[in-house]
Amino acid sequence: MGIKFISTGRYLPDKILTNFDLEKMVDTSDEWIRTRTGIIERRIAEESIATSDMVTFAAKKALKKGGLSPEDIDGIIVATVTPDNFYPATACWVQKQLGIKEFPAFDISIGCPGFLYGLIVAQGLLRTGECKRILLAGAETMSRVVNWDDRNTCVLFGDGAGVVILENSNDDSDILASNWGADGSLGHLLIQPAGGTRMPPTHETIDKKLHSVSMQGFEVFKHAVRWMAKSAGQALKNAKLTAQDIDVYVPHQANMRIIEATIERVGIPMEKTIITIDKYANVPDATIPLSLDWALEQGKIKRGDIVLMNTFGGGFSWASCIVRW
Ligand code: COA
Repeated sequence: MGIKFISTGRYLPDKILTNFDLEKMVDTSDEWIRTRTGIIERRIAEESIATSDMVTFAAKKALKKGGLSPEDIDGIIVATVTPDNFYPATACWVQKQLGIKEFPAFDISIGCPGFLYGLIVAQGLLRTGECKRILLAGAETMSRVVNWDDRNTCVLFGDGAGVVILENSNDDSDILASNWGADGSLGHLLIQPAGGTRMPPTHETIDKKLHSVSMQGFEVFKHAVRWMAKSAGQALKNAKLTAQDIDVYVPHQANMRIIEATIERVGIPMEKTIITIDKYANVPDATIPLSLDWALEQGKIKRGDIVLMNTFGGGFSWASCIVRW
């Protein structure tokens, strides 16, 4: 029995923040951001909107596209590093908003690869029969956790949510192979330092902006290329495929130069690569499902295509999944 993506949905806030808008906020330029990252604009959630709201909007679209009602779902997984609360899980708020209950609903918090970690976990729940139809989301409200005075980080991120609905199927669609991992010794290189039990919130942590993203960009860059390429290679090996067999490549969208360096190492042409960083920027856990939904809408992914998804992020952590769509 295979696993099938029955439908997808995405939600992006209406508010667009362009590089030119950022020029008025920090010492940066459209030219720097565009050439160093590939980002042109990003979406910013309205103040009243939290991560679960965006997931719910995207979920309703995915349910509609799949001809499903909320009652058809019996598992919700939300990958996010910007949850509504530490607890309950954002997935529980989504469950409430969809008006359904009495099945597992939980979050995965690892960093940008969370959506693919969620896919690997969902695969286990479906193959063992624990769940029949899972709503898997990746969603972020990064605008609440970036330091808007720090040009090194604030230009890189955006808000949004993407959802996929997965079920067991008897046709050719399937998750063919995956690879995932983490190296906790490098966690300090990409971190939101305060707010947890290591550094609980105080006036000082707030004054010092320690509740915001802190990162050593070049270190992240180097490790991202290395691990995305290595993980993609291992997933291909596990699937007994080569890079030439891949019809569509959906990479994490952290920096256009990371994507270019990775595809060169893996051996995938740019024509097969889905790019959404220009319009959405890096929406950590949401990047892959947003890109999938956009690519499907553009007709860039068709049933039967071999799709390689490939991510890297905080932890450090990485994950790759190869699916026959
Ligand atoms: N505008 C203008 N200048 C900026 C800037 C901005 N928004 N952000 C940083 N700079 C400056 C720095 O202050 C530094 O200046 P200095 O040399 O005078 O100290 C210089 O640009 C660094 O430039 P460069 O060497 O080109 O940096 P880079 O090639 O490493 O690019 C990143 C910087 C952040 C774009 C890149 O490292 C990156 O994308 N890393 C991955 C980050 C990421 O996406 N993490 C999220 C999780 S995957």
